[in-house]
Amino acid sequence: MAYSEKLLDHYENPRNVGSFDKNESTVGTGLVGAPACGDVMKLQIRVSAEGIIEDAKFKTFGCGSAIASSSLITEWVKGKTIAEAGAIKNSQIAEELALPPVKIHCSILAEDAIKAAISDYNTKNGKAAAEAAE
Ligand code: FES
Ligand code: FES
Repeated sequence: MAYSEKLLDHYENPRNVGSFDKNESTVGTGLVGAPACGDVMKLQIRVSAEGIIEDAKFKTFGCGSAIASSSLITEWVKGKTIAEAGAIKNSQIAEELALPPVKIHCSILAEDAIKAAISDYNTKNGKAAAEAAE
């Protein structure tokens, strides 16, 4: 299978690997698993008082496409509002990384993880869960 250069770059030099303290009120944590393969992705955001995502980190126990998808999405969400970040579609990730069809679910994991992180942040901060929905 031929992987794109962007995918290999994010896989070999993943951005924003790490974690924040999940108990901080400014941090939202999303932990999701892929039923298709059992891989697990943890994605965290740190949100400013103005509702801007200032920083993002991930830890992914999974395949190269899952690692690349999470690396890419942490880059994309920085500087975005939580509403903008919640609107990112897995198809955009799959397109950017040129994921082959069998690896599409890896990008879905990243979309699910950012949505879960936003919903965790909203819950913690007493915001309506609807804000995180599509
Ligand atoms: Fe899970 Fe890719 S199948 S590592
Ligand atoms: Fe399952 Fe990539 S997340 S193969």
